[in-house]
Amino acid sequence: MNPHNLSLLSLISIITIISTISIAKPSSDLDFSYFDKITLSAAGNAPKNETSPRRRSEAMTPDPYEEVLRIARKPENVRWLKNLRRWIHENPELAFEEFETSRLIRKELDKLGIEYRFPVAGTGIRASVGSGGPPFVAVRADMDALPIQELVEWKHKSKVAGKMHACGHDAHVAMLIGAAKILKIREPHLKGTVILLFQPAEEAGNGAKRMIRDGALENVEAIFAAHVSHEHPTGVIGSRPGPLLAGCGFFRAVISGTRGQAGSPHRSVNPVLAASAAVISLQGIVSREANPLDSQVVSVTSFNGGDNLDVIPDKVVLGGTFRAFSNTSFYQLLKRIEEIIVEQASVFRCSATVDFFEKENTIYPPTVNDEHMYEHVKKVAVDLLGPTRFRVVPPMMGAEDFSFYSEAVPAAFFYIGIRNETLGSTHSGHSPHFTIDEDALPVGAAAHAAIAERYLNEHR
Ligand SMILES: *[C@@H]1O[C@H](CO)[C@@H](O)[C@H](O)[C@H]1NC(C)=O
Ligand SMILES: *[C@@H]1O[C@H](CO)[C@@H](O)[C@H](O)[C@H]1NC(C)=O
Ligand SMILES: *[C@@H]1O[C@H](CO)[C@@H](O)[C@H](O)[C@H]1NC(C)=O
Ligand SMILES: [Zn+2]
Repeated sequence: MNPHNLSLLSLISIITIISTISIAKPSSDLDFSYFDKITLSAAGNAPKNETSPRRRSEAMTPDPYEEVLRIARKPENVRWLKNLRRWIHENPELAFEEFETSRLIRKELDKLGIEYRFPVAGTGIRASVGSGGPPFVAVRADMDALPIQELVEWKHKSKVAGKMHACGHDAHVAMLIGAAKILKIREPHLKGTVILLFQPAEEAGNGAKRMIRDGALENVEAIFAAHVSHEHPTGVIGSRPGPLLAGCGFFRAVISGTRGQAGSPHRSVNPVLAASAAVISLQGIVSREANPLDSQVVSVTSFNGGDNLDVIPDKVVLGGTFRAFSNTSFYQLLKRIEEIIVEQASVFRCSATVDFFEKENTIYPPTVNDEHMYEHVKKVAVDLLGPTRFRVVPPMMGAEDFSFYSEAVPAAFFYIGIRNETLGSTHSGHSPHFTIDEDALPVGAAAHAAIAERYLNEHR
């Protein structure tokens, strides 16, 4: 997930509380489905008999879930998955620099006899397993690490100073390579083609956007992806229909006045006052203009200007971030942030420009799960792992560039738990203390493979 977002994790607990209050659906065109009552329990329509969680899908014989899990849990495959993840963890590479990670993936795909297209979006890979014909379903893993110094002391600590897989993308890659192996073994049973997308630069670089531009979604009619989560016990899968992660944007404003001696304020135009008024007014957008049932955030995080206590500076630079769960609200925030800063500046005789970094691609739309694709993930998770291993989760204020895929084709994003108190894997993503319970790797590999295979079976 996006680097700047997880600092807002504390908001989740607030959302969780709000979400447990049952609210009648407002009759507005905005999407409020994420305020439906959240049940953090097992899936509602799961089979009642807990001793036999798996239902046999008629289209798949013999019981494919057992076979998929059996392959994923073979001791030699678990060792292989852990080694892959550990190698990637030791050799983290930042956005669009995933050269060795990409090379490792291609080497494994070659060994498995899986064909792929490379390069896609620089270091990205588009591999395919199956019949070669329709339907085409995609599964995506992100490959990039973060500019964070690892503070976990363990055998496979990052070997690169200042870089770390602190968001678990090393695990995502290992899981998808694991799924590739399972799907290759099951290739004769595949009723279509699975596209495996290894994507660069999820963190701030918008690798997804470039992957799509380079044809990653060619023929693809649906897409799925997972993210590891320290909020759920190892191997538990979580998701929700509708908005799951917020749209996220950043802004930086330059407010310009006229420099002058502080003792003679009438000879200058003070941008510090204008910028201060703008910051205060920005607080009014969410509190006064947004529907209180439609969660949004505007945070000013940076404010800089002047370095001489006796001089009024000629400009102040301020900036921050904004979030919303619907496209409409998101773009409304963007519009109002610009208007408020420009207008407040003019009240104090200053001028202002606001940059939303559209060119640098740091605008992420909301990640919205298609109802049917969400149901698909839930069905597979319940049938594969049992009803107690699936949870409906509340939405989060973090962002994901998976949203670009979910804008293009029906999609579902889901979490795979990595939390284990004994192992200490309780830190959030982007923490220098972030660790995972590697027992989640075979579960993730199996889940990715089963989601893809069953999709093909049911969409012939
Ligand atoms: C649950 O499933 C098991 C194994 O299939 C079966 O023996 C048992 O009778 C079932 N129990 C109920 C309550 O259906
Ligand atoms: C969201 O809104 C923007 C700006 O209005 C538009 O360009 C984009 O296509 C919209 N996306 C969706 C998914 O509606
Ligand atoms: C946590 O990890 C330990 C050591 O691998 C394992 O014995 C235990 O079962 C794990 N706990 C959970 C809840 O997965
Ligand atoms: Zn991430």
